[in-house]
Amino acid sequence: MKRSMYAGAVRSKHIGQKITLKGWVSRRRDLGGLIFIDLRDREGIVQLVINPKEALPEVVEKAETLRTEFVIEVTGTVVERSQVNDKLPTGQVEMQVEELIILNTSQTTPFEIKNGIDVNDDLRLRYRYLDLRRPEMLKNFKLRAKVTHVIRNYLDELGFLDVETPMLSKSTPEGARDYLVPSRISQGHFYALPQSPQITKQLLMNAGFDRYYQIVKCFRDEDLRGDRQPEFTQVDLETSFLSDQEIQDITEGLIACVMKETMGIELQLPLPRMSYDTAMNLYGSDKPDTRFEMTLQDLTDIVKDVEFKVFSQAPAVKAIVAKNAADNYSRKDIDKLTDFAKQFGAKGLAWIKYSNGEIAGPVAKFLTSIAKDLTERLQLEDNDLVLFVADELEVVNNSLGALRNHLAKELHLIDKSKFNFLWIVDWPMFEWSEEERRYVSAHHPFTLPQADTAHELEGDLSKVRALAYDIVLNGYELGGGSLRINQKEMQERMFQALGFSNESAKEQFGFLLEAMDYGFPPHGGLALGLDRFVMLLAEEDNIREVIAFPKNNKASDPMTQAPSLVSAKQLDELYLEVLKQNHSEKNEHR
Ligand code: AMO
Ligand code: AMP
Repeated sequence: MKRSMYAGAVRSKHIGQKITLKGWVSRRRDLGGLIFIDLRDREGIVQLVINPKEALPEVVEKAETLRTEFVIEVTGTVVERSQVNDKLPTGQVEMQVEELIILNTSQTTPFEIKNGIDVNDDLRLRYRYLDLRRPEMLKNFKLRAKVTHVIRNYLDELGFLDVETPMLSKSTPEGARDYLVPSRISQGHFYALPQSPQITKQLLMNAGFDRYYQIVKCFRDEDLRGDRQPEFTQVDLETSFLSDQEIQDITEGLIACVMKETMGIELQLPLPRMSYDTAMNLYGSDKPDTRFEMTLQDLTDIVKDVEFKVFSQAPAVKAIVAKNAADNYSRKDIDKLTDFAKQFGAKGLAWIKYSNGEIAGPVAKFLTSIAKDLTERLQLEDNDLVLFVADELEVVNNSLGALRNHLAKELHLIDKSKFNFLWIVDWPMFEWSEEERRYVSAHHPFTLPQADTAHELEGDLSKVRALAYDIVLNGYELGGGSLRINQKEMQERMFQALGFSNESAKEQFGFLLEAMDYGFPPHGGLALGLDRFVMLLAEEDNIREVIAFPKNNKASDPMTQAPSLVSAKQLDELYLEVLKQNHSEKNEHR
């Protein structure tokens, strides 16, 4: 029989109708001589009832064999429910089953199909199709589909063309390692999966497409975190002839539209803007969470003459004040905070507690001469806890910035109902890589330098500022973009500054440099991390919860067991040989 509607869609208005439903048995109970079945499908749950005294014997017989997650088809009449269930949208009604077909059986599932389960992540991923049956998961994917729908509508309306760019491509430098794909036809040659469509979207501007967008998979082989997957999705866009401000306006409009349509929230536009320097100085982060205060306070000037050498001799000293929290933190607790700060490079964490107009704690005795200044500068009040880090400015910012976020969570300072978007602008063009002992791009090498700093490409690279902008939401980098270089000479200077020889620049990016010989228009764009956006809207704390088949924290998939070994024949065809391989794995496979 044809399905009449979703189980979750049955309502009082259907009372008296004979309907057919198809779905999964969520629960079967035998009560007071009656058989009750909760039938679940995509849209919800409805109660089925079978009265053995009235139903056909074969229906009763089949009903008695039903177990959780069997797939069934039922036909029957919708009746008013005697005991209304307010918790279910279908709670006013139930179906009296007249016909029952078992479409498939099911073994006992490795975990219950319900919200709020407490099971190991790998088990959830191994049986992801069962995990996704859980209503809270399905809800996330409905939200995700709604978000992409709204985004497409908005960008289509503004004349953005949806264009696909290649997945088998060449390295696109976004600061991560590439995923490589060996070529069978060109021996020893490899494609790279795109870290982003950065260069191809720029070339679409050279093609005169004017406005491009794509909701696109990107691939980056980097360490996994809660907000990072090796394979993720960007809302990627590029435009010609627009200023950075105009691109930001389009993006803000897009975000406002998503917030309105999916969350019913009206964003105040324009969104706030903050320079990179301010973000680092006040929040110790280039993606500040502005839902709470506790900003970093610079004390370098007032501690320069104190006895405490750790402070007086440090290039920078800053503090954060945890208001009214001194009682919450024992020495042991502060030791834990110290260990936390050390993970971010701090050599230690000095602290004082303030009460009754006095400062106390192990280093307080060294600070008596400046107690008054400190109290005033930090506006200390009873029961405040002050945490200090003294070091190079970068270490101070990084460690106190991380500690600020950590404390806000511990002290429940975050208003979870807030969505604080802001732009971070005036970025440095380069950042120093300790690992590589050289300057690398803070964004990517196609970013246009701010005109008044471009001369430093041949001078002090730390002084070059980029026409780049990041959009931040609640402490996460949601997206980033920039105006791009469209002049060959500037692009060559950029490659030189990054340490490329002429030959290697040509070898890697010759096609882009060549394109710059043919009327490349001024252009710029941006990409939003779709997974992160949906994660934050869904109030999840891992993007896995909004990706249908994600990888675990070892970048593998417990369900398909990818990545996996391949046959010797496949390797031969690709002219590849695996030199170092786990011995037991190898034997198993041959
Ligand atoms: P960027 O590298 O900043 O910019 O990436 C844009 C956004 O993509 C998201 N993102 C990720 N999400 C999940 N897992 C990952 N591993 C991951 N890496 C990045 C982030 C990030 O803000 N081509 C430029 C954009 C441009 O200049 O137009 C780019 O890719 O939310
Ligand atoms: P010490 O003199 O090394 O025993 O340190 C005294 C206190 O200062 C301890 O609480 C340390 O954690 C703290 N401390 C040490 N180095 C630093 C630093 N660079 N910044 C802030 N506090 C520090």
